[in-house]
Amino acid sequence: MPHDAGPEVLAARPRVTVHFALTLDGKVSTPNHTPAQFTSANDKKRLLQVRSENDAVMVAKGTLETDRMSLGLPDQVLRNERLGRGASEEPIRVIVSASGEIGLDLPIFKNPGAPIVLYTTSKIAAPKRAELEAKIAIYEAGKDQVDLHYVMSHLFSRYQVRAVVCEGGPTLVRSLAQVDLVDRIILTVAAKLFGGRLAPTLTGPPGNFLPASRHFKLVNTEIGDNEFYLIYEHEACTRRTRF
Ligand SMILES: NC(=O)c1ccc[n+]([C@@H]2O[C@H](COP(=O)([O-])OP(=O)(O)OC[C@H]3O[C@@H](n4cnc5c(N)ncnc54)[C@H](OP(=O)(O)O)[C@@H]3O)[C@@H](O)[C@H]2O)c1
Repeated sequence: MPHDAGPEVLAARPRVTVHFALTLDGKVSTPNHTPAQFTSANDKKRLLQVRSENDAVMVAKGTLETDRMSLGLPDQVLRNERLGRGASEEPIRVIVSASGEIGLDLPIFKNPGAPIVLYTTSKIAAPKRAELEAKIAIYEAGKDQVDLHYVMSHLFSRYQVRAVVCEGGPTLVRSLAQVDLVDRIILTVAAKLFGGRLAPTLTGPPGNFLPASRHFKLVNTEIGDNEFYLIYEHEACTRRTRF
């Protein structure tokens, strides 16, 4: 495989959490593709809280562009909590893109903060790679698609990431689920219906089934601000204590 990330031993991996907001009809995106706008201020606070509890926050290119995320922790209290427990001030920021076609005009590159790491494939154009490399770390991890098992193992060994939260998007979640890399799902269920026959769900637009269904256990529920907050753990995880 054309992985260029070095000879580290790539066995162990971080715990992978997926954190999403859904409507009652299971949609993750508005007609205008503005998902961040359909949940409460409380939900946004919770998103940052969960982000702060992880060593890395991961998104794929579509979400990075649509939601124009910086993936930082604007709240100094959360940053101080991290420093207090000996962690870095903010989780490292991880981007997944097979093409590597990431524009340097995106907000993530404008906001100083934790290191940014891009996992891409050998499809990345040489000039784009050179342009991005001046600002971020880049690893080729596959030929057509990013090998997500490799990514997780590499994050574990190279960056000491023990817990990563994936904040989207659905295409990336589907890829993670496909290779059985979803350990925990945190959902906010907003009391709204969007319709949208072809609108994406947690695992993307309507399409093929996963190779096998993935089974989770509901481990926590909370109600607040006309929303449900749910935490599910992969059944294997409820029997496992370490990653
Ligand atoms: N409700 C929520 O909580 C929530 C959360 C996040 C996003 N969203 C919404 O979801 C929508 C975006 O969905 P999306 O599915 O297009 O976004 P996405 O998953 O963020 O991005 C898709 C792109 O990411 C890259 N990618 C994903 N998985 C990959 C893999 N295994 N290997 C290599 N590259 C991979 C590819 O980029 P390249 O084309 O560069 O190869 C692909 O085209 C937006 O409307 C966003 O607002 C909602």
